[in-house]
Amino acid sequence: MPQPLLTLDFLDTAAPAAEATPSGEVRITAATRTGRQRKLYIESYGCQMNFSDSEIVSSILFDEGFDTTDDLANADLVLLNTCSIREKAEQTVRMRLKQINSHKKRKPGMLVGVLGCMAERLKSKFLEEEKIVDLVVGPDAYRDLPGLISQVDGGQKGVNVLLSREETYADITPVRLNSNGITAFISIMRGCDNMCSFCVVPFTRGRERSRDAHSIVQEAQALVAAGYKEVTLLGQNVDSYKWASADGTEFVNFAQLLERVALISPELRVRFSTSHPKDITDEVLHTMAKHDNICKYIHLPAQSGNTRVLALMNRTYDRPWYEERVQAIRRILGEDCAISTDMISGFCSETEEEHQDTLSLIDFAQYDMGYNFFYSERPGTLAARKLEDDIPLDVKKRRLQEVIDRQQIHARARYARMVGRVHQVLVEGPSKRSAEHLSGRNSQNQVVIFPKQNFKKGDYVNVLATSTTGAALLGEAV
Ligand code: SAH
Ligand code: SF4
Ligand code: F3S
Repeated sequence: MPQPLLTLDFLDTAAPAAEATPSGEVRITAATRTGRQRKLYIESYGCQMNFSDSEIVSSILFDEGFDTTDDLANADLVLLNTCSIREKAEQTVRMRLKQINSHKKRKPGMLVGVLGCMAERLKSKFLEEEKIVDLVVGPDAYRDLPGLISQVDGGQKGVNVLLSREETYADITPVRLNSNGITAFISIMRGCDNMCSFCVVPFTRGRERSRDAHSIVQEAQALVAAGYKEVTLLGQNVDSYKWASADGTEFVNFAQLLERVALISPELRVRFSTSHPKDITDEVLHTMAKHDNICKYIHLPAQSGNTRVLALMNRTYDRPWYEERVQAIRRILGEDCAISTDMISGFCSETEEEHQDTLSLIDFAQYDMGYNFFYSERPGTLAARKLEDDIPLDVKKRRLQEVIDRQQIHARARYARMVGRVHQVLVEGPSKRSAEHLSGRNSQNQVVIFPKQNFKKGDYVNVLATSTTGAALLGEAV
């Protein structure tokens, strides 16, 4: 998602915005309020929603007297917030548990817990499969962590994988982890009511529910007060956000929420992820056009360019519908609005011709960015139950490579057309390659690198792009 959610090293592709790097470490060291001084080490896998949840978990445990630490070897509690989206994501977690086991041998009191989607999918089976695990907690049960930890302290195992129809953690102020102090994520909804046939998320995250609009605005206001300059509103399908006040007098849809957040401050950039092609409305696009501080970038996963495959995937739109949504973006927001996609190669029964349709959709949409995967069958999904996973792995991988190569051409072209123009860049910090340069993003979410002069993190700088590497713009402040 924008950095749409977003960073596991997914072998099959670059990390999707929707799927971020495993944070690996947590740098915030919160002062302990209860004096218990236990140390929490938390690592997140999968999408930005998981990263955002880890910040909620840290907040809940902070109130229980846990400091966060980046030192795994000395942690009292090690939590892995896990992802089930593809088989490889689960394998990564199992390998990590083996490494953690060697730390636990050296520090026998260490408690190990598994949170998130894999916990939800495997439930108490996890305890049988991975002996070092003491705690298994699903995405809607984090408020129960203190109780479960006491149970484990008492010598038992702790499991809570109940899904909820109401939980949004609206009242919990997240402890910002690994934060640059400039950009932050805000969860606006949880779960997913779509039943894409390949996808495990509806099973691991439960029913869709939208968070109280006022609590979202308040969280964004608090971030602005703390000096943050950009928020990304997160959900599996943000366009279906809908919230009504308890007395039924107030209704807020996604376009209206976006506007409320944009109006907090012209200095605050607003991004969002992920948009579902069936739900993104012209009202959302017009709201984006109306407010300069809503970034001109839409993550609009297509999954396939072929109508028959889209029907098998149960995406509920066809190719003409998707193309029309891309045209609506171009019509209302202009050619400059960036669009990115997710594509799945080698879905059940996909023919070579249908794969070609995916390539031609990439040409049609001229995506700025693509997060591309080969199909990985997930137990319990509609596709696993009803369709045969019949495309050989080598064919899946070859098609995926063709998708990646085609996408690269457009990504480079989209960067190239931005050269010679001035971009408003929000500085996120020093460039990774050079301490003399700063790195930030333009509205389209493209990386822009320029000599630092006297600028600093959090500044908005107008930068003339003078060249591109194909994955970043290089330029100078004007
Ligand atoms: N809610 C978002 C997607 C979240 S999952 C949406 O509807 O677009 C992120 C991406 O992982 C998906 O867009 C899809 O491209 C990919 N994905 C999901 N399940 C997969 C599977 N079984 N095999 C391969 N890729 C998958
Ligand atoms: Fe999965 Fe589809 Fe929901 Fe996205 S919209 S999370 S792909 S079921
Ligand atoms: Fe996210 Fe992975 Fe779960 S992508 S919702 S953490 S299955």
